[in-house]
Amino acid sequence: MRKQIAAANWKMNLTLQQAEQLTHELLASKRNLGANQLVVFGVPFPYLLPIKNTLQGNGNMYVAAQNCSDKKSGAYTGETSAEMLKSIGLKYVIIGHSERREYFNEDNATLAVKVDLALANDLQPIFCCGEPLSVREAETQNSYVEKQLNESLFHLSADQARYFVVAYEPIWAIGTGRTASSDQAQEMHAHIRSVFASKYGEDVANTISILYGGSVKAANAKEIFGQPDVDGGLVGGASLVADEFASIINSLK
Ligand code: PGA
Repeated sequence: MRKQIAAANWKMNLTLQQAEQLTHELLASKRNLGANQLVVFGVPFPYLLPIKNTLQGNGNMYVAAQNCSDKKSGAYTGETSAEMLKSIGLKYVIIGHSERREYFNEDNATLAVKVDLALANDLQPIFCCGEPLSVREAETQNSYVEKQLNESLFHLSADQARYFVVAYEPIWAIGTGRTASSDQAQEMHAHIRSVFASKYGEDVANTISILYGGSVKAANAKEIFGQPDVDGGLVGGASLVADEFASIINSLK
């Protein structure tokens, strides 16, 4: 069975003290995870190690970086390399979030380099894709997302693509309270899986986890995660509230 993942994206929120408190509250209220269920916390860089330590001993719970550099190492002040993330024992890194694309000019080619550096350092990217509102209104979202996957991921080998994690996040649904309907999510997730199938075969396409992101909350998680091609979610705002995120975790298939 494919991995079902509840991924938190804390973005640039919380002090370390608040982050620790949130993590403790969450650990106290969540149920035990099944063998195929994972929880990943995308936390700010300074909190990676402390939150990783707090999670220690809780099976299937990991921290993720929210970004990594597209440079290997060297004189790039303020950057954090994939190798550094590996060296502190990380397994996951979020790559290509729409906020990185929009505010930090990350394009598909740059993201391809980041994906390669992550994989070369044994990090699993959680690769974000998704269309802006204008594209959705023009009904060209399928080809838009396909281009993102093609230009950033489809140079990978089938072995690298197997068990890959993609997060589909329509930009018009992020932080807006406007969620894609479960039908819209399913339709795009099925499309993403079919694009992987054309490139790598059904076998690989059926191992990738495709998460939905964009205003996921306790009230809608079960319906969205219940769709056949939705393997969990990448959650921003609602991941900052312990009860909400615990309920989202408990909505995983
Ligand atoms: P949201 O953010 O859940 O607050 O809409 C999702 C994301 O940006 O990953």
